[in-house]
Amino acid sequence: MALRALTNVKTLGRLRHQQIRGLQTFTLPDLSYDYGALEPAISGEIMQLHHQKHHQTYITNYNKALEQLDDAIAKGDASTAVKLQSAIKFNGGGHVNHSIFWKNLAPTHEGGGEPPHGSLGWAIDQHFGSMEKLVAKMNAEGAAVQGSGWVWLAVDKELKRLVVETTANQDPLVTKGASLVPLVGIDVWEHAYYLQYKNVRPDYLKNIWKVINWKYASEVYEKECP
Ligand SMILES: [Fe+2]
Repeated sequence: MALRALTNVKTLGRLRHQQIRGLQTFTLPDLSYDYGALEPAISGEIMQLHHQKHHQTYITNYNKALEQLDDAIAKGDASTAVKLQSAIKFNGGGHVNHSIFWKNLAPTHEGGGEPPHGSLGWAIDQHFGSMEKLVAKMNAEGAAVQGSGWVWLAVDKELKRLVVETTANQDPLVTKGASLVPLVGIDVWEHAYYLQYKNVRPDYLKNIWKVINWKYASEVYEKECP
């Protein structure tokens, strides 16, 4: 079946995975910066907990659900296969979303917070009026997400236009449209900011822009809209 892999450890797209009992499973991706490198915008304590505990838990539960799905398919157990879909969506979405999130951040000495100057910067001005207006829109929509979720800047690769979207829980952006490609995804779950910002989401949103990796967002945008 599609989930089976021939090699022990390799990279598929952006997600690392490995083979356990013949079933392809996923592993926690390394960060390209130290946990404390985003301070003071995001504390090292939050980064370590977020990466090692929260993201790892999504991966562990995703792998478990995939193994159960593999067993259910092998046994022809359609009912269990269907029942597992919500766990796969939630935990798999958590893995996909966090894998993007870490790339959306960069220390200031590596360009974090530096606004895009190329075609993405131009497109932001065209679609939203200015970078300041885009930030205000994403902060407002991110603050308004009820419970847990994400706020995204994305490019619609079919229409070649920028959009701001939100998703609930760990729904990945693709659930809002197959042609949407995430450029910047901001995690607005409490676990992303409660230790440092005392559950005040707007303060977290205000500060996270100081470490947003616009270089990464620009590279994705230019690939989708050459
Ligand atoms: Fe998170």
